[in-house]
Amino acid sequence: MTGRTSLTIVLAAGEGTRMRSSLPKVLHPVAGQPLLAHVLGAVPEGAGAATAVVIGPNHEAVAAEARRLRPDAATFVQHERLGTAHAALAAREAIARGADDLLVVFGDTPLISAATFERLRAPLKKGAALAVLGFRAADPTGYGRLVVEGDRLVAIREHADASQAERAITLCNAGVMAFDGRRALEIIEKIGHANAKGEYYLTDAVTVVRDFGLEAVVIETSEDEVRGINTKAQLAEAEHVMQARLRKAALDAGVTMIAPETVYLAADTTFGNDVTIEPFVVIGPGVSIADGAVIHAFSHIVQASIGRGASVGPYARLRPGTSLGEGVRIGNFVETKAATLEAGAKVNHLSYIGDADVGEGANIGAGTITCNYDGFDKHRTTIGAGAFVGSNSSLVAPVKIGNRAYVGSGSVITKDVPDDALAVERSPQTIRDGGAARYREMKTRDKKPKG
Ligand code: UD1
Ligand code: MG
Repeated sequence: MTGRTSLTIVLAAGEGTRMRSSLPKVLHPVAGQPLLAHVLGAVPEGAGAATAVVIGPNHEAVAAEARRLRPDAATFVQHERLGTAHAALAAREAIARGADDLLVVFGDTPLISAATFERLRAPLKKGAALAVLGFRAADPTGYGRLVVEGDRLVAIREHADASQAERAITLCNAGVMAFDGRRALEIIEKIGHANAKGEYYLTDAVTVVRDFGLEAVVIETSEDEVRGINTKAQLAEAEHVMQARLRKAALDAGVTMIAPETVYLAADTTFGNDVTIEPFVVIGPGVSIADGAVIHAFSHIVQASIGRGASVGPYARLRPGTSLGEGVRIGNFVETKAATLEAGAKVNHLSYIGDADVGEGANIGAGTITCNYDGFDKHRTTIGAGAFVGSNSSLVAPVKIGNRAYVGSGSVITKDVPDDALAVERSPQTIRDGGAARYREMKTRDKKPKG
């Protein structure tokens, strides 16, 4: 909406008691990102768009998250929880600056889209003083009901204050409102608290607007977009809706998934062209998958970048800080963490590669373990380009395996191996000719029945 300035106030001061958690409600994740991140990701941004977040006392973690997500966002503390209008007024100083449009949104509605905010702002351009986002609720219990006459919004009645007839209304308040920014402060300040809960309800802005002889309207959206999160069950429902959206977006972008309903994505997952994701894969935050990469079934990936044409799994676990170059192969039961693997490196079976740099084309045999932790500190392992690490080797970090070096199977490597060298650390093997036959004979004799 070019030319118009806006202020968006995100109300996030609630305790979230019904989540039964010590984590503030808006920090609970959906698709790998806090509820607050989803909301802040959808509100207007860019030139002329300011954001304010209202947080509860002792919610420094929420303020920190808001600043991380939107460094330009102002935060305001609501010291007492006296209702949604009272919460909005915590940001009085920001409202008083008089942006053209004031949006008030709840921090616990993560499924809302940027397009909906724009739709809600549109009536303001045509002279409405207030636009309220409404939806048809399958079960309206608990929501504020929108009382309309024709296409005019007359009042919002909170569930606790509603008459029997009003409770039959299914058109409900989603909790998002757009005000004419120049009138907003006087409207919100006029709101009283004569209601069942004795709270300052932002929803009473509708009657104030009408008393001023101004116009209030409703913009409708789907229930899925405005699901508010108050409980863990609602958090799970929102995750369900979000995953369906992310899977559809991935399919639309050309990702191949034969069972998308079994694949879990994060809101920030990025894909190149011709990526394939097999069934039962879980992708957490911070993952990028480049062109042609294949993620085989039952893999778990968090904060990792996967290079072009790389192959991961089945049953692989890529932990934070993993970076796979072009054509890298990570096979079954392999775990990586804080590890960079250059192009063409292979770790095909049963290994742990943590705090490590693996050079181009290196081949890491089955059962190789980087022993990165001594109980106090983490240490790095460096494996040179073209190196070959034999199966069942332990690389005790800090340690370096040179370029093109060989490590014999079963070695416990504690000293650096120079380029092109062969290191074997293993007790000498003994051979006793006929020893197996003598052993078998002895055991057979011992087992003969007695007597
Ligand atoms: C609110 C609406 C209701 C609407 C419903 C949609 C009011 C009075 N009612 O009811 O019409 O149908 O949302 O989900 O607005 N908050 C504060 N400080 C406060 C009180 C609330 O910051 O003092 C924040 C909460 O953190 C939350 C939001 O405001 O993010 C809504 O509060 P909540 O108590 O969930 O309101 P509802 O009863 O759900
Ligand atoms: Mg609520």
